[in-house]
Amino acid sequence: MKKYINERCPYFLHGGDYNPEQWIETKEIWDEDMRLMKKAHCNEMTVGMFSWPLLEPSEGVYDFSWLDEIIEKIGKNGGKVVLGTPSSAPPRWLTAKYPEVLRVNDRGERLRFGSRQRHCFTSPVYREKVKRINEQLALRYGKNPTVVAWHISNEYIGECHCKLCEAAFREFVKKRYDNDLKKLNHAYWSGFWGHTYASFDEVEPPSSLGDASYVHALTLDWKRFATAQAIDFMRTEIEPLRRIGADIPVTTNLLFSDAYDNNAMAEYIDIAAIDSYPNWHSTWESNQDTASSTAFWLDYYRSMKDRPFMLMESALGAPNWFQYNKLKRPGMDVLASVQAVAHGSDTVQYFQFRKSRGCGEKFHGSVVDHVGTENTRIFGEVEKTGKLLEKIEEIAGSGTDARVAILLDYENGWALEAARGFQNKDKKYFNTLRAYHKVFWKKGISVDVIGPKRDFSKYDLVVAPMQYMTDEALIEKFERYVFGGGTLYATYTLGMADESDLCHLGGFPGGKLKDVFGIWNEEIDTLYPEERGEIVLDNGNGYEAADYCELIHEKGATVLARYAKDFYKGMAAYTVNRYGKGKAYYQAFRDTGDFKTDALSSILEDLRIFGEIRNLPDGVTCHVRTNEQTKYVFVENYTEKETSVSLDGEYEDLLTGEKVEKVRLSAYGFSILKKQA
Ligand code: GAL
Repeated sequence: MKKYINERCPYFLHGGDYNPEQWIETKEIWDEDMRLMKKAHCNEMTVGMFSWPLLEPSEGVYDFSWLDEIIEKIGKNGGKVVLGTPSSAPPRWLTAKYPEVLRVNDRGERLRFGSRQRHCFTSPVYREKVKRINEQLALRYGKNPTVVAWHISNEYIGECHCKLCEAAFREFVKKRYDNDLKKLNHAYWSGFWGHTYASFDEVEPPSSLGDASYVHALTLDWKRFATAQAIDFMRTEIEPLRRIGADIPVTTNLLFSDAYDNNAMAEYIDIAAIDSYPNWHSTWESNQDTASSTAFWLDYYRSMKDRPFMLMESALGAPNWFQYNKLKRPGMDVLASVQAVAHGSDTVQYFQFRKSRGCGEKFHGSVVDHVGTENTRIFGEVEKTGKLLEKIEEIAGSGTDARVAILLDYENGWALEAARGFQNKDKKYFNTLRAYHKVFWKKGISVDVIGPKRDFSKYDLVVAPMQYMTDEALIEKFERYVFGGGTLYATYTLGMADESDLCHLGGFPGGKLKDVFGIWNEEIDTLYPEERGEIVLDNGNGYEAADYCELIHEKGATVLARYAKDFYKGMAAYTVNRYGKGKAYYQAFRDTGDFKTDALSSILEDLRIFGEIRNLPDGVTCHVRTNEQTKYVFVENYTEKETSVSLDGEYEDLLTGEKVEKVRLSAYGFSILKKQA
């Protein structure tokens, strides 16, 4: 069944951030923008995120006239509006009158008015002010046919150490440990360095002036609290919108930094939205690598709600905040948009429609440049994308069927990063996830990227790289999944700690995982960056190891590869264990690329999981969206060379209507095909 962003627009949305408030003195520009929007085949504008000072020029005095006018203009122009709520940037009068709404940093300094996302999430005054303005917006626009989604705030981020937040944190901790000091002292392992708590009142957030990096459960709880507080604040924002404007879905552009647990945040929104700014054409990785790591995040945002998501922001040409803002080469703007659609986005949105004249983003890529006309290269690319989205409209709302999932666990990432040991600077959790994802990406195999609370049973293969933290629930879940017939692939650092980051006793991986994997992991050797280990598979193939080599013992597992070097030469490096109806694979070392490709390829072969197109040339990949019996296949070329791809059977080319068995792709070209399954 199709799931649209909003039933009122059963098609792709094409547009992005629009800041008419910056041009309010020159309203003729608003009219010109309407003409240009049409010309660019844009049908959506996101407005209002930074409009609070105009909407509420003084406390309790609202002025919606200009917003009425612009929404009406966009509607009359055939467009839809994604309406922002303005909490990320309060007006000056608000912070001047209520300075307590501004955040305090971990050194106890209160921030000043400025930038964005500087407000305290706990502040009752701020919550009240946000609630009021959102109520006004909901009352005024909740039933407006032009408005198709609420965009809550903008890029939630950060934390606050004010007295209110500290007190809320203490309550959070009290609740987590059932108001039982013994539980707290145990979880915080407070005998270490004599940090015993005699009362919950002594609990303080981590700070560079105090406990910042040694009490790991405290660090974790603070991160959990920051997420919980952000969620609580977000729910306060959403409440009036849902109450008054119930039929408009709610979204927010969650950042993919690890500031919060996005798995948890996503539960409270209707539609996931991503801001995606890849560094195309860099000197440190190929476009293929950039495409693959972008694809990882796109897959994650689609998986968040298991439905089409929104590419809420992207940069045309180049953004302005990279160290080097290199222009995307001709064709790449369109291809990058097509990539998002291939992975399940039902929107292509840019930051921004008209380029700012002044301040921090005046050189950021946009649809309309300072020249002010449609006669630019970038405008041409936007127009192309717009026409394309109209042509492939029937794909909107369709989903993705993945038989493979990769686990993304933010709490695990935080705990790994905090752990002192192995490689201290960067444990590379996210890089490792992306490296595993790339194996599937290259083969054009659909992958969901899911949190640990999600249902594993619908997947034939679950890959859980560096799943260091395993609480009882996750251990159980892994066990049940494999026992029931699933294939689980885990790697070095599996199951070392529980949810308080206390090491599992009795050998790694913790608890039943030793039986599931049939191994015991006794030690971990960390290599220097320039060092390489050696591994040999049963069939004689050799591979390199980097960074980590664990010394594992077989406890029932079959050894598929062994170390070929160092004092652990001959010990198991890669194992498989049959457990119940399923199999559990363990890769005890970090590889440099080839090993995981070969190991996973052989597993995929066993499971009969293949990409839609078997023989993809290097730098070309494919992705499938499905709707009941119809498959839509996107074939994308990330190289600068023209190439051709032989298909496995006949497809309809959705752009030309022709029947094809082979497609030719230009440099940065793509093809969109259709087939009845
Ligand atoms: C985003 C932000 C936008 C704009 C953009 C520039 O992070 O949400 O408002 O600042 O960056 O790339």
